Amino acid sequence: MRLDVFTLVPDAFAWIRERRPLAAVLDSELELRVFNYRESTPLTAGQVDDDPYGGGPGMVLRVDVVAAALDAVYGGVPDHRVVALSPQGRQLDQELVEELASEEALTLLSARFEGFDQRIVDHLCTDVVSIGPYVLSGGEIPALALVDAVARRLPGALTEGSGEVESFSAALDGGLEFPHYTRPAEFRGWVVPEILLSGDHARIEAWRREHVRAVS
Ligand SMILES: C[S@@+](CC[C@H](N)C(=O)[O-])C[C@H]1O[C@@H](n2cnc3c(N)ncnc32)[C@H](O)[C@@H]1O
Repeated sequence: MRLDVFTLVPDAFAWIRERRPLAAVLDSELELRVFNYRESTPLTAGQVDDDPYGGGPGMVLRVDVVAAALDAVYGGVPDHRVVALSPQGRQLDQELVEELASEEALTLLSARFEGFDQRIVDHLCTDVVSIGPYVLSGGEIPALALVDAVARRLPGALTEGSGEVESFSAALDGGLEFPHYTRPAEFRGWVVPEILLSGDHARIEAWRREHVRAVS
């Protein structure tokens, strides 16, 4: 999969390359490219945004700047999905993550300040995705969340089996994973459920099934 991120803060994406699970799939299952709108802007002095028509506070990411960035990389609007990250979009959930992880190429557009000129969303994007009903200062954290969630679904990202039984997975009927415990078996009088220490795999499995919670 090729994942391209357009941003004003390319440094925000440095650390994720060195961390598993993304590092495990980088340059094999995943090609991650990060582009700065300022490098392809047709405006002088690296300008990328402007005052909103109609007045009001904040700056708006310009449509000609984003179009120029797409032109520079793809020679126009690409024929794969282009996702604008915005609090106004479809909320990211595991179903959408699986859907996006099955794409061969994906482009993420992030903005800052007041956000996108609406024509970017209307004419240059196929999807608008939000990571939750709250407003962050920029699209970099949403893009990192999406990149991480997608990367861990790619083959080889996780150790065998560890990505199959987890919260929201089909294996748990979309529910929340059962609790986990590790050593010590007792700490400050807080004990691990006896059954998990029993070595009886059938009973442990039944206990875990019982403790899967439905998403409310
Ligand atoms: C301060 S926000 C703009 C908010 C916009 N003026 C509004 O009221 O809907 C700046 C940028 O951060 C990103 N962003 C902020 N919150 C987000 C969220 N919950 N999900 C996805 N992107 C978000 C988007 O790229 C957005 O354009």
